Amino acid sequence: MLWRVGLCLLLGSMGMSLPLTGPGRTAGRNKLLLISFDGFRWDYDRDVDTPFLDEMARDGVKAAYVTPAFLTVTSPTHFTIITGRYIENHGVIHNMWFNTTTSEKKSYWQTQFVNEWWDNGTVPIWITAQRQGLKAGSHHFPGTASTYQGEKVQVGEVEPAIYNYSNETVWRTIVDKVMGSWFRDKDLDFVALYFGEPDGTGHKFGPDSPQRKKMVKQVDRTIGYLRNSVKRHGLEDRLNIIITADHGMSTVQRKDTVNEIVLSKIPNFTFKDLDFHLVDYGPTGMLLPKEGRLDKVYNALKGAHPHLHVYKKEEMPRRLHFSNNKRILPIILWSDPGYLINGYIPVQFNRGEHGFDNEGLDMKPFFRAVGPDFHKNLEVGPFETVNIYPLMCHLLGITPDAHDGDLNNVRHMVVEVEDPVQRSASRVFIGLGSVGGFLVLICLVVVVRNVLQRKKPNK
Ligand SMILES: *[C@@H]1O[C@H](CO)[C@@H](O)[C@H](O)[C@H]1NC(C)=O
Ligand SMILES: *[C@@H]1O[C@H](CO)[C@@H](O)[C@H](O)[C@H]1NC(C)=O
Ligand SMILES: *[C@@H]1O[C@H](CO)[C@@H](O)[C@H](O)[C@H]1NC(C)=O
Ligand SMILES: *[C@@H]1O[C@H](CO)[C@@H](O)[C@H](O)[C@H]1NC(C)=O
Ligand SMILES: *[C@@H]1O[C@H](CO)[C@@H](O)[C@H](O)[C@H]1NC(C)=O
Ligand SMILES: [Zn+2]
Repeated sequence: MLWRVGLCLLLGSMGMSLPLTGPGRTAGRNKLLLISFDGFRWDYDRDVDTPFLDEMARDGVKAAYVTPAFLTVTSPTHFTIITGRYIENHGVIHNMWFNTTTSEKKSYWQTQFVNEWWDNGTVPIWITAQRQGLKAGSHHFPGTASTYQGEKVQVGEVEPAIYNYSNETVWRTIVDKVMGSWFRDKDLDFVALYFGEPDGTGHKFGPDSPQRKKMVKQVDRTIGYLRNSVKRHGLEDRLNIIITADHGMSTVQRKDTVNEIVLSKIPNFTFKDLDFHLVDYGPTGMLLPKEGRLDKVYNALKGAHPHLHVYKKEEMPRRLHFSNNKRILPIILWSDPGYLINGYIPVQFNRGEHGFDNEGLDMKPFFRAVGPDFHKNLEVGPFETVNIYPLMCHLLGITPDAHDGDLNNVRHMVVEVEDPVQRSASRVFIGLGSVGGFLVLICLVVVVRNVLQRKKPNK
């Protein structure tokens, strides 16, 4: 009898374990615009009147906030957004290119043109899209200038060395160019668009300053202008828009309020023990000790200041995903919000900084989305920015390259429309599922009847 019960369960479970619905997909290949407003912290709309952002939230999706990759600095976190990979996996580990032998460093802008810094085994979504037959563009987005595995973005524009990132008139010209020339005339499928504010103002005046609030009004007006431009160019029904940022911003405290971190003042620490260092760059630092001096440097720094975190590369907390890469130096430093890491003497004068632990709320950017494939008036919980890449690939109907995100973390924002083939397939599955259930039922009836019949003679 046991084998009969077993067979019943096997048959039944085979039927029932078939999926009841197909995987679903979006309505079709709509166009996609990804916009980053550098340093737009998740809560910047709370102390400023932002009618256009509010309208966009009613028409689309708003996340509580998103969690950027660590280090929370511009080029690395932007490259995470467009590759879906943590920084240790994509290799753009800092805003600055550096050579530990010659101690040469290149600024954020110069580093845009160091091809091998960007092309380190991972390609941005515009390359993924182009390889699968779509047309892509990138306007000022970090990584635009580079060639990846021999291929460059089809339509790209990089800002000149001296460039004012804050001019609202220029922003409007860019918006109309992207809508009219790039999306409508050139018929691009995907565009990445970067604006350098409110980061610039947040650094200079601090995230709580009236200047930052004024800049958020400018961003809001630009979003209103952009959505109007979408309508003027007849793109409303076929353009999805994602607006987010690379990191947030936190207020810097000075020596009148806190005990500043100055490495040269730490007992038993000396720059003479280092071959190379990258400090005086906000709240993070990386050190390359001389041969045989790693432990000396580490022991001197570890615990030397209550707001300074000191880690050997291989002992980095896994959650930060900032360890497993050749380019990351043997000792990594970061400070708590409010504090900066100074080398010889404090030479940093920004009132606002980023680069801190990505767990801190001050480092979280905003996330908004609107368009034909997004739900309306939907607020969703926080998620990591590595998930934006699979979301974008899903919207574009392309197969993502290897990445660290998961579409399942974000697909609830998207309106899933089954196509006819899948619908009939899922009918078959439902049918099979019911058959499976029915088989189990019949089997049980038969088994129970047998058991009862066998028991009868004993009575
Ligand atoms: C750094 O400079 C040295 C000396 O010029 C050179 O040999 C090395 O290839 C450079 N490394 C990188 C990553 O550019
Ligand atoms: C990435 O860059 C490192 C040097 O920084 C180099 O050794 C490595 O080969 C590069 N990997 C790829 C896939 O380009
Ligand atoms: C902003 O850009 C426009 C167009 O290039 C220019 O005419 C204007 O002078 C700029 N405004 C400022 C304040 O720089
Ligand atoms: C950039 O332009 C804005 C206005 O568009 C102006 O207020 C600001 O002073 C300019 N910045 C620089 C550094 O020229
Ligand atoms: C500095 O190093 C010396 C010699 O190794 C040691 O005795 C001393 O305790 C160290 N001081 C601190 C503050 O770690
Ligand atoms: Zn930034």
